Amino acid sequence: MRIFSGIQPTGRKHLGNYIGAIRQYVEGQDRGEAIYCIVDLHAISVPYEPVELRDHVYDTAAILLAAGLDPDRCILFRQSDVREHTELTWLLSAVTSHGDLNRMTQFKEKSARQRELASAALFFYPVLQVADVLAYRAGDVPVGEDQRQHVELMREIARRFNERFGELLVEPEVRVPEVGARIMDLQEPTAKMSTTGGSEQGTVLVLDEPDVVRKKVMSAVTDSGSDVVRAPDKPGISNLIEILSVVRGVGTQEVEREFAGSGYGDFKRAVADAVVHYVAPVRERYAGLRGDEAGLERTLAAGAERARAIASATVAEVREAMGIGASGS
Ligand code: TYM
Repeated sequence: MRIFSGIQPTGRKHLGNYIGAIRQYVEGQDRGEAIYCIVDLHAISVPYEPVELRDHVYDTAAILLAAGLDPDRCILFRQSDVREHTELTWLLSAVTSHGDLNRMTQFKEKSARQRELASAALFFYPVLQVADVLAYRAGDVPVGEDQRQHVELMREIARRFNERFGELLVEPEVRVPEVGARIMDLQEPTAKMSTTGGSEQGTVLVLDEPDVVRKKVMSAVTDSGSDVVRAPDKPGISNLIEILSVVRGVGTQEVEREFAGSGYGDFKRAVADAVVHYVAPVRERYAGLRGDEAGLERTLAAGAERARAIASATVAEVREAMGIGASGS
């Protein structure tokens, strides 16, 4: 089984990214051939600083390695190092419907937030994401709930390509965790946790100091009542139950049973302790890894070489099937 996922470059990766996605990346290394990409080309679809972008790629690489990605057991690389991604984006755009791109909810949300320029890159973003995965003919895409629609688009485009040009591409399956696929903002538990759209205090960063993590969890908005149970009218408590369930590796019902009869205060303290223990080792390992930029660059370059070997074979077949370039080139 080939697994592929991508993540945006930023040093501000949060608990939602960790629980929804990074945890699955680590586990993917035991399940199959795992390929993970830091998507710097996606990052330029919104305003950014060039110098910071390079740094953020290293920040993200160090977070992923600190979380447990092992370059001997997975391929970790920077998207722009494998130019086949951009070429395949254009080739696949020929079988992408403009209407489908218009329906992408992330595009609608992100373009509405742009004050100066809603770039064409933002509109094309999902096609690049489709190319990321189809270039590797990956069968399995571990992501959080917010990426489900993009993976459906991958399936649609692979299907349309195969019908038109022959069975070359693989329709990937989405892999969304059962619990923790959509971690909510601790201050506004009806909105997903996010560094771009969410609240500062409601977003626990993987690199936050333990006392900051504790403060954020302890000040999480809770709901009326005092029962620690999941319910549609209890988005705050439901979110904390999901977080504790994942972090402790137990079922949500087990969490509910354990805290039946205790107040919100005791429950939140337990969540705070558990989250601190969960992310602290990553923060500790991060410092050493991030300090060695040359080492990170070597890891990414070696990853890119292995990735390119796979992606270039796919692009060559796609070009051939589409009548692009001299035959057999
Ligand atoms: P990005 O960098 O925004 O997020 C990385 C991963 O974290 C998940 N995630 C969450 N999971 C649970 N709760 C949350 N609150 C939460 N917020 C984010 C995301 O679902 C994602 O899995 N477009 C992608 C990157 C990408 C990609 C790809 C993904 C580029 N190419 C190919 C898969 C396959 C993105 O912006 O992720």
